[in-house]
Amino acid sequence: MKYFALTSGHGIENLSVLNCDVPKPGLGQVLVKIKAASLNYRDQLVIAGKYPAKPLPLIPFSDGSGEVIEVGESVTRWKAGDRVAGIFFQKWQSGRLDEIKANSALGGAIDGVLAEYVVFEESGLVAVPEHLSYEEAATLPCAAVTAWNALTSGSITCGQSVLTLGTGGVSMFAVQLAKAAGTRVIATSSSDAKLDRLKRIGADELINYKATPDWENRVLELTGGSGVDIVVEVGGVGTFAKSLKAVRFGGHMSLVGVLTGSAGEANPTGAIRKNVRMQGIFVGSKEMFESMSRVLALHKIRPVVDRVFGFDSVKEALGHMKSGNHVGKVVVGF
Ligand SMILES: NC(=O)c1ccc[n+]([C@@H]2O[C@H](COP(=O)([O-])OP(=O)(O)OC[C@H]3O[C@@H](n4cnc5c(N)ncnc54)[C@H](OP(=O)(O)O)[C@@H]3O)[C@@H](O)[C@H]2O)c1
Repeated sequence: MKYFALTSGHGIENLSVLNCDVPKPGLGQVLVKIKAASLNYRDQLVIAGKYPAKPLPLIPFSDGSGEVIEVGESVTRWKAGDRVAGIFFQKWQSGRLDEIKANSALGGAIDGVLAEYVVFEESGLVAVPEHLSYEEAATLPCAAVTAWNALTSGSITCGQSVLTLGTGGVSMFAVQLAKAAGTRVIATSSSDAKLDRLKRIGADELINYKATPDWENRVLELTGGSGVDIVVEVGGVGTFAKSLKAVRFGGHMSLVGVLTGSAGEANPTGAIRKNVRMQGIFVGSKEMFESMSRVLALHKIRPVVDRVFGFDSVKEALGHMKSGNHVGKVVVGF
């Protein structure tokens, strides 16, 4: 079978295609033929050696979907032919995140899914919603679960308002899931063409943050001066102060991403004075994945897939994502 790995060093130039035998599933394990994988911002950092990960060699990418080919002894949950996806943290089944669970992320702490066949523990898989293709299902493990966790940790309730930033994978899922929860979504983007995509998936209010650099004031205007109930904060230090201004007194900010970089400082004073609740979000558990999948199935929500690249075009896919021209998810089909 073919797989991609970093062996001699980090950097996209060191990502090579290699060959090995198809692995055999052992006791309690499941062999999956990967049909599609999706890219996350984190994968760029892992490949560049700028994200905590296991020593090389490393097979990158956390998000893959595929078909069960063979099950090992004592496996009860899966059978050949099942359509599955791997969970991001292989050991985070439910409950709170802890250090052991956090150290089980695919394509980081352990080898990932950029391979034609992968062996998983049977507990490391979920069934994928029937209405989704493999390409669509491959977008769920990181971005969609993160968006779900970001919204539910803020106790999202029908009739509330939610602010999302940009049109990356997490934000597009946040818009779709927040709409399914019956909320009013205010969404920002750098371009009017991308805002149009946001409108088409249901965003209620649109702000071009390039044309309106003080977008936090526009959010306040749109909410009668009070601010939104929940912010899905993917920007990091560069957007933190604006998001804090845009959230209501007693509102909730889910701290998800660092698209503007991880250097710099953020001032918590506004959060104290406004009684804002802040929650760091690190993807989510299998339990969250399964709850989210039920909502996707119920509302027939389809992930926004920007482009599907071939297995041999992984480097082009990474370049496309790095350009920031994408909307939603970039996928590699096998
Ligand atoms: N904590 C977690 O568990 C977790 C999980 C997944 C991702 N993340 C993090 O969350 C962030 C988003 O991830 P992603 O996978 O959705 O990334 P992505 O798909 O690469 O998102 C890229 C998009 O973000 C938008 N963007 C860039 N700079 C922005 C800014 N200053 N303000 C608003 N939008 C901006 C742009 O959209 P527009 O051109 O439309 O503005 C850009 O196309 C990343 O930092 C990632 O590492 C965290």
